Amino acid sequence: MAPLHYLFLSLCFVSCTFAQLKRFHHSSMEDGSLNFLVVGDWGRRGDYNQSDVAFQMGKIGNELDIDFVLSTGDNFYDNGLTGVNDPTFEESFTKVYTATSLQKQWYSVLGNHDYRGDAEAQLDPILRKIDGRWLCLRSFVIDTEIAEFFFVDTTPFVDQYFAIPNEHSYDWRGIGVREKYMANLLKDLDSALRESHAKWKIVVGHHAIRSVGHHGDTEELVKRLLPILETNNVDFYMNGHDHCLEHITSKNSPLQFLTSGAGSKAWRGDAKGWNENGVQLFYDGQGFMSVQLNHMVAELRFYNVFGRVLHKWHMSKPLHSAI
Ligand SMILES: *[C@@H]1O[C@H](CO)[C@@H](O)[C@H](O)[C@H]1NC(C)=O
Repeated sequence: MAPLHYLFLSLCFVSCTFAQLKRFHHSSMEDGSLNFLVVGDWGRRGDYNQSDVAFQMGKIGNELDIDFVLSTGDNFYDNGLTGVNDPTFEESFTKVYTATSLQKQWYSVLGNHDYRGDAEAQLDPILRKIDGRWLCLRSFVIDTEIAEFFFVDTTPFVDQYFAIPNEHSYDWRGIGVREKYMANLLKDLDSALRESHAKWKIVVGHHAIRSVGHHGDTEELVKRLLPILETNNVDFYMNGHDHCLEHITSKNSPLQFLTSGAGSKAWRGDAKGWNENGVQLFYDGQGFMSVQLNHMVAELRFYNVFGRVLHKWHMSKPLHSAI
């Protein structure tokens, strides 16, 4: 774990009053490019091909010389962490993502399974003492100059988790009054997006807005989150939740819906499939996604458990476009 002191230095833990979302700075490469991997729905102590996916992430991470890794949530199965001392943290994270190229900062959101355990444990800075790569908050912003990332806590938006009776219990400490929490978050997100001058605007949440996988679209997000992303010219929405890889284009805007939720258990076999509008990729098995950004081009790639590229897509922007 030699490069950890470097990671601490490269991550500036200064929060400002720019909207209410906590902001962090992560520098792009000197040439202004930024490369990263996206994985979701992973923590199963290496089982269900988690270790195989991790191995391929290490190889691709090395080839692309990645800056960081994004986790789209459902970090620890089945029920999140029991507390900051839960050995699951090391068994499913530290001891699985061991490749040198993955010893970079990880930025994570919480998924619904994380809320079934001690959700606040995953947010606790003590975890960074155990593994310096870890940073998980409910909602926050990472500014990399070329791109700005807006992480959104989507679990509290989903009505089903608040139904009574419920087969699961959720740790809603820290949420307060649900409607107020959601309204504040959307307001803060909207103003942070509005003020952003980044070339690429990327929003990350656990639940899909659009998906043809098992869970399908998250109606609550279609209704409340999607209009904010479209109004503010967001380029990509990245999520997990459905244990598959997907790329879906939007009918109404340049927004691309990207599901990377295939970090371990997959092969659900009940997708609605390819016939739906705008589906560029649907893959039911394990894998992950890479993103390469520079001032003109974004390139996305999806990989399976063997590291084979399943789908490649790129998008260009004029060099001096006004936002
Ligand atoms: C692991 O990956 C291989 C190749 O895709 C697949 O055949 C196998 O079913 C996977 N195992 C599990 C437990 O999903």
